[in-house]
Amino acid sequence: MTRIVYVNGRYLPYSQAGVHAEDRGFQFADSIYEVCEIKDGHLIDETRHMERLERSLGELKIAAPMSRRALGRVMREVVKRNRVTTGLLYLQVTRGAAPRDFPFPKGIEPTVVCLARRVDDHKRGERAEVGIAVKTLADVRWGRCDIKTVMLLPAALAKEAAGAEGAQEAWLVDRDGFVTEGASSNAWIIDAQGSVITRPLGSAILPGVTRRTLIDLLGQEKIPLVERAFTVEEALRAREAFITSASGTVMPVVRINGSAVANGYPGEITRMLRSKFHHVAEVSR
Ligand code: PDD
Repeated sequence: MTRIVYVNGRYLPYSQAGVHAEDRGFQFADSIYEVCEIKDGHLIDETRHMERLERSLGELKIAAPMSRRALGRVMREVVKRNRVTTGLLYLQVTRGAAPRDFPFPKGIEPTVVCLARRVDDHKRGERAEVGIAVKTLADVRWGRCDIKTVMLLPAALAKEAAGAEGAQEAWLVDRDGFVTEGASSNAWIIDAQGSVITRPLGSAILPGVTRRTLIDLLGQEKIPLVERAFTVEEALRAREAFITSASGTVMPVVRINGSAVANGYPGEITRMLRSKFHHVAEVSR
C-alpha cells in the first residue's frame, strides 16, 4: 500500500495527494514518467532511468523540475517513507498547470509526483516459474514511442484485450507484421541457434532500461545478440521468448495467441538471464 506521495515539494498522505484540475498531464498527456525497480530497499539502474527521464523531458521541452541529485533525494525519501523493500517507484513530471490551451504556456512550473509501492515478490517469482501468455494486437500508438510519455491509452486497451483472453501482456505488431514491443515491456525471442533477437532502437519502441542492462549481461555471458525486427510467425517458431521491464525484469513468454512457444515451458537461457540480471544491474545505495 502506498502511504505517502510526493507532490510538488510536499510529502502527502495518499488520500490527500492530488494535482490541479488544469494540469496538462491530465488534459493533454503532456507528461513523462519513469518506473524504477526497488530491491532490498534500493533503486535499481537509477542512473539509466534518470538519463532517460532527462531525455524525455528534453524531447518535450519540459524544464527539469530540479537537479538529478535533488530528484534522487526525493525518490529515496519516498521509498523510505513508504517502507518499501521490494517494489516499484513511480515518478511523473508534467509540463504543469495552466488554463487549457494547446501551445505551451509560459512561466509555469512542472508538476512532480513520486510514489512507491510494494510488489509481491513471491507471486512474481511464481509467475516467472510458469511463464506468461501474450496476445498480439495492431500497434496503433503514435510515432514517438521512444519518449516515455503517459499517453498510455493504447497500452491500457491492449492490456485489457490481452487480459480478456487470459494473456498477461500484449505484443504490438506494426503494419509490416513485425513485433514492435509489449504494451509495457520490450519483446525478445531466441532462435534455434541460440541468438537473442530484439527490435533495434528507434521511434517505434521505448529504449528499455532493462533491455539495456540485459544487453550488458548478454555480452558478459557471450550470448550472441541480434538487433532486428521479428515477425509473429518467427516468434511462434522460436526456441524461447521473453519480455523485459523494470516491473518484471526478465519474464518468460510461453504462449503466443494461445500457441505454445517450444514446449510451453520457460526456456533455459531465459531462466539463466533472469537469475543473473541483478548481477549486472546498478544498485543505488
Ligand atoms: N513500462 N516498452 C514500453 C512501452 C514500456 O512501457 C516499458 C516499461 C518498457 C520497458 O522499459 P524498462 O525496462 O525501462 O522498464 C518497454 C513500465 C514498467 C510501466 O509503464 O509500468
